[in-house]
Amino acid sequence: MKSICADLVLQRLTPEAGAALNRQLYDCLRGAILDGSLPPSSALPASRDLARETGMSRNTVLHAYAQLQAEGYVHSRVGSGTFVAETTPESQLSAERGRPRTADTGAPGAVRLAKRAQALVADASAAPQQWGAFMPGVPDVTQFPHRTFGRILSRLWRAPTPELLTYSHGGGHPALRAAIAEHLRVARAVRCDADQVLVTEGVHQAIDLSLRMLVDPQDTVWVEEPGYWGFHKVLQMSAARVLPLRVGPSSSSSSDGQAEGPGSGWPRSSTPPRLIFVTPSHQYPLGSVMSLARRRELLDLARASGGWIVEDDYDSEFRFAGRPIPAMQGLEADSPVIYIGTFSKTLFPGLRVGYMVLPRALAGHFRTAHADLYREGHAITQLALAELIEQGHYAAHIRRMRVLYARRRTLLAGLITEHLGPGYLHPQASNAGLHLVLRLPEGSDDVAIAKAAQARGVLTRPLSRYYRRGGAQRGLLLGFACVEEAQIEPAFRVLLACIRGQ
Ligand SMILES: Cc1ncc(COP(=O)(O)O)c(C=O)c1O
Repeated sequence: MKSICADLVLQRLTPEAGAALNRQLYDCLRGAILDGSLPPSSALPASRDLARETGMSRNTVLHAYAQLQAEGYVHSRVGSGTFVAETTPESQLSAERGRPRTADTGAPGAVRLAKRAQALVADASAAPQQWGAFMPGVPDVTQFPHRTFGRILSRLWRAPTPELLTYSHGGGHPALRAAIAEHLRVARAVRCDADQVLVTEGVHQAIDLSLRMLVDPQDTVWVEEPGYWGFHKVLQMSAARVLPLRVGPSSSSSSDGQAEGPGSGWPRSSTPPRLIFVTPSHQYPLGSVMSLARRRELLDLARASGGWIVEDDYDSEFRFAGRPIPAMQGLEADSPVIYIGTFSKTLFPGLRVGYMVLPRALAGHFRTAHADLYREGHAITQLALAELIEQGHYAAHIRRMRVLYARRRTLLAGLITEHLGPGYLHPQASNAGLHLVLRLPEGSDDVAIAKAAQARGVLTRPLSRYYRRGGAQRGLLLGFACVEEAQIEPAFRVLLACIRGQ
């Protein structure tokens, strides 16, 4: 059997032309140390063994080990081998600089964070600025029917019962759970009743709960590559072995219709995944749709191995052309799918309300754990939200936003095609969601372009940052939903100047 380290190398290393192999191996091992896949104090295989297991020359491995050692990522003990260092250079550096992210409370270096927390804060992803062209993933919060919601809330606040003001229990207010179940059955073809619905404080909490409930240290999980940074952040805090489920051109059924071989693109791992994180209806960030064949393959695999698929259906209400893509959860009765959704995209992110639809076998356990771990509350908000949905305001708001966002998307896509050419629109993207991907030529520095744009008031996210391993595509995620039509062209011109280096 191969060592974990060799497994990681074989998974992550996608040899890049022009780069020395020992450098690529070094990058790969360093990445695994930083994201916790190779935890502190763990032993690396002997260079001879790793060379044999990966098919590289021993010299290549020795060079990579020597570089890691010189930089403080590993140390070797004569006679016993090479070990991952307790503290990475990154964590030492950020502690020494006293960066507020690392040590908010004291003198530089005074705070000793847990190893995983060090890695988390050293590479923080949440953007401090959330509103403005072209912030990806943000809906037009100015359109939220706040008066209607306010009226419902103020009526409830006039005479709140003690149950609305004490800790809640049971996975969310029953009225909201029922309203969510009804909405999902109709709008997303999810097979569920209210007992399976668990209200969370958003997708991140739902992922966190799934990991805590179903994954033990060193269990394997698969996550899409490229994929949502939030998955990685929460995963980083677990001791799971994270393997990339590559999203290639063939995962899109909508754009190229290529046939997919069974199991193609699956991670090679010696143990089956406990959880598989996917965004089948609208891949994040590329925007492709997972084919039916692929969905069935994943369902079969999860059933056969006793694992679970975590389906993040974060923005599927917004599909602007063609028929809606039903959720993967509803494809089969009693599917091994934990379905996750959020009101962050349909209403507003600050609401912090999301939901899970759990397989029956899991629902009771998750409810109990949710109440014990996080203590539930926000019952008045949940009841008001239930009324908003029951009275039809929610569905009406989505319908209105769909028209608005479709216009904004068309406008932005048209500007990209007109000024840069059709090749700059990502070919896998389907006509849906709240953002599109502006593809940049290979080798472009999308991080630098995003920084330059931000300095001039235009917010984007570089596509390469969504890749944890090598082989990143370059591009920019552009949110169109939160930009008024009149603002789209001026903001795009600023972005264009940054892309052209002006
Ligand atoms: C793919 C994906 N899932 C989930 C979320 C966040 O959901 P929530 O606000 O409910 O945590 C986002 C937010 O951008 C997202 O892009």
